[in-house]
Amino acid sequence: MTKQESLKGKVAVVTGAGRGIGAAIAEALAAAGATVACAARSLAEVEAVAARIGTAGGLAFALRADVAEAGQVAALYAETLRRAGGLDLLFVNAGVSLDQRPVEASDPDAFETTMRVNLFGAYHCARLAIPHLRARGGGRIVMTGSGMGHSSLHGHAAYSCSKAGVWMLVRILADELRADGIAVNELVPGPVQTAMTGVPQRTGSVVNNPVEWLKQPEDVVPLAMFLATHPAPGPTGQSFSLMRRTF
Ligand SMILES: NC(=O)c1ccc[n+]([C@@H]2O[C@H](COP(=O)([O-])OP(=O)(O)OC[C@H]3O[C@@H](n4cnc5c(N)ncnc54)[C@H](OP(=O)(O)O)[C@@H]3O)[C@@H](O)[C@H]2O)c1
Repeated sequence: MTKQESLKGKVAVVTGAGRGIGAAIAEALAAAGATVACAARSLAEVEAVAARIGTAGGLAFALRADVAEAGQVAALYAETLRRAGGLDLLFVNAGVSLDQRPVEASDPDAFETTMRVNLFGAYHCARLAIPHLRARGGGRIVMTGSGMGHSSLHGHAAYSCSKAGVWMLVRILADELRADGIAVNELVPGPVQTAMTGVPQRTGSVVNNPVEWLKQPEDVVPLAMFLATHPAPGPTGQSFSLMRRTF
């Protein structure tokens, strides 16, 4: 098998695949031979990513799904199974960062939405994927975490709490699913220039940190591919970071 075919025959779902880190991962998985379901709320964005993959000779389709809604996640998997026949790899990557104010000044609705997307969304995506992964005899779940889930940063309570929850969810799922051959790991990208992080020169921006490697989405791909392709059983319940300072 060539390096390019390392995921041939595998089916992947990538949430938050419409842009940024998720789009880069979706394109890389497809380039390695996987069939990729690209999911997000903005259908036009995931359709553009799936079209790019198709133009490059890969297999992908676009599906609209809000990960905060369990029913939409279930429908995402049902449609993926209908189109591609199974599920082997899940990248739980959809995320939002909505409020950068101190807790006292923050918006409770933004806190709740952040938790619903980043943490409940990860929970829905993982929980509903388990029977499909098990039906294939095992699989991989990779959750995009954050350094802010491991150490505190002033003004980012909602985001940090949601990502801290993701990290614990990874560890618990890894223990619960080890016997099923389903590896669950966290990918901590560190600062990446995307729509979420905005202009890197912004004063106080989390991407404007002199000790960290400011990445483009493609820079996250090698670590994502390691987690998607390492031989079984491989690591599980681990946090893999591209940051200098995560913990
Ligand atoms: N960029 C960084 O520096 C950085 C650092 C550490 C961790 N991360 C994490 O990396 C992941 C990707 O971030 P990014 O920087 O690539 O951000 P991005 O460019 O804003 O992309 C976020 C993606 O998530 C989707 N999304 C948001 N809410 C969703 C929902 N409720 N249901 C389904 N999809 C949803 C977005 O599409 P729609 O809005 O159309 O749904 C989009 O496709 C996030 O989990 C983020 O927390 C990013």
